[in-house]
Amino acid sequence: MATKIGIASDHAGKELKQLIAEFVKMKNFDVIDYGVAVDSEKSVDYPDYAAILAADISGGKLDFGVLICGTGIGMCITANKFPGVRAASVWDEFTAKMSRAHNDANIICLGARALNHHRAAELVNLWLDTPFEGNRHKARLEKIREIEKKLCVR
Ligand code: RB5
Repeated sequence: MATKIGIASDHAGKELKQLIAEFVKMKNFDVIDYGVAVDSEKSVDYPDYAAILAADISGGKLDFGVLICGTGIGMCITANKFPGVRAASVWDEFTAKMSRAHNDANIICLGARALNHHRAAELVNLWLDTPFEGNRHKARLEKIREIEKKLCVR
């Protein structure tokens, strides 16, 4: 079964979303677009789009997610409210690589107003190609899971 990637943005990220979706399809992933539609004229609220995608990561319907807003920050804050979500705000090669290798991030958050679009695609490529290192990092993720269990209903 192909790896499933969800992608969502607000109005600030819709053009970059389109570009990243095409790029990820070329890498033979299954891409599910959660909106906002690229031809939409509306200004929309990033928490609405982060929440529908993050819920599907949390529920195991998606393997990975890409969330895009102006800075990537609002999407990241929202997505990390969901149990099992490890969303990372990424802005360069180092943060792209480390968020996968050490944190096993399952959502990458990008700032469409902060990054050159070609560069953003390169970062997604690196992020998707970087495996989780496991070992000592696994125990740290387990600690995050324990915190979630104490604080979250699910
Ligand atoms: C929208 O203007 C902007 O606030 C949003 O895209 C994002 O940057 C929020 O974190």
